[in-house]
Amino acid sequence: MEWIGPTWVEVDLDAIGNNLTTLRALTKAHICPVVKADAYGHGLTVTGLFLQQQGVRLLAVSDVDEGVTLRQCGVTVPVLILTPLLPQQAPQAVLHNLTVTVTSKELICTLAGLGQACRRIVKVHLKINTGMNRVGIPPESALEYARLIAECPYLMLEGVYTHFAEADHNNGFTRKQLQRLLDVKSAFTSSGLENLLWHAAGSSAFFTLPESHLDLVRIGSALFGQTRVGLPSGAALENTWNLYTRIVQVQRVAKGAPIGYNQRYTARRDSVIGVIPVGYGDGFGVFPDNFDLWRHLRSALVKLVRKPHQVSIDGCDYPIVGKIAMGLSCVDLTEHPRALELIGVPVRVQARRTTISRRIPKVYTINGKPALIYRHCCYWRPVVKNSELYAIAVSVKTAKEIIERRNRDGQDS
Ligand SMILES: Cc1ncc(COP(=O)(O)O)c(C=O)c1O
Repeated sequence: MEWIGPTWVEVDLDAIGNNLTTLRALTKAHICPVVKADAYGHGLTVTGLFLQQQGVRLLAVSDVDEGVTLRQCGVTVPVLILTPLLPQQAPQAVLHNLTVTVTSKELICTLAGLGQACRRIVKVHLKINTGMNRVGIPPESALEYARLIAECPYLMLEGVYTHFAEADHNNGFTRKQLQRLLDVKSAFTSSGLENLLWHAAGSSAFFTLPESHLDLVRIGSALFGQTRVGLPSGAALENTWNLYTRIVQVQRVAKGAPIGYNQRYTARRDSVIGVIPVGYGDGFGVFPDNFDLWRHLRSALVKLVRKPHQVSIDGCDYPIVGKIAMGLSCVDLTEHPRALELIGVPVRVQARRTTISRRIPKVYTINGKPALIYRHCCYWRPVVKNSELYAIAVSVKTAKEIIERRNRDGQDS
């Protein structure tokens, strides 16, 4: 039995399940959960297994590695790879029965050859560029590609899709993109190409443009409780993810004293400063950045007005102060009535989910209680002893049973 350590991510499986139910009630389309980026930081394997047991028809991932990981942990539902493959990646995709997004004739030929060699039907979705100008073939080439696929006995065109560029705030452009896809659909229908899965919407369009639901919606952020757009009245999404860590040091700091690297912050009053063992090495406080003068000026301005990162203790927020270092960050605890007694106390850290390091253990809760832990690439059964969380290693089979039990009767293990 091992203590799980000072820092962990808590994932609420019930909340993911409830969000799926909420989304299903709002559409006739199939929900295809997008579980790329380690399931948006929720852990690819447990989230994938959980969603499979929730009866989803298809899962979407970014790349072949994620697809293979899902297969290796026992996910058997179809898995769509969203990013175009390089030829070197194609054998893995075919071997693991993954569904491939195709956007080039070369890839179609490679997959056709591999399918034939393995005597395996390779399912493909054709991606149409309707305005994002990132990935996809021009709409006017779609029929030609579909015919090419149809000529390959070991390829099966299962779906056709596009991706919206700004469905969170530009319905006019999104409608144009949708129309371009619908024009392709009409051309396919006129040519006798039917019974395909047509898809376009992600989370934002799911709410802002219901007519874009088509046969299937690819949903990531909303499933995990986040959206950039308003929800229909009566609908609510639950928070699914929290990062916790424990305060490892607390000290008094006099007014005017600098805190952390580069004296980035100076105490504005006599303060009590706590230290938490997370930093940019854990993906905390990391933002994508390119060197660009305008961006830097803008980000300097934003920093002046933006609320700093916060941690919460008993529902109250305390700001991170000073530079976030590789493995440590400082918190101004001065306002806390018992600030000097907080060593070892867990705090909730507001963080970007997808950047948080995968090496931080994930504690999955069911009915509000820890039910399963994913740590060091293994599954563990949680044990609470003296109010502390410990873990006992278990097999993937046991992990699956714990998730299945939740789905069967909503019970904790
Ligand atoms: C092609 C594609 N579809 C759907 C999604 C899901 O988007 P969202 O998280 O907004 O639901 C993504 C996510 O990045 C994506 O790349």
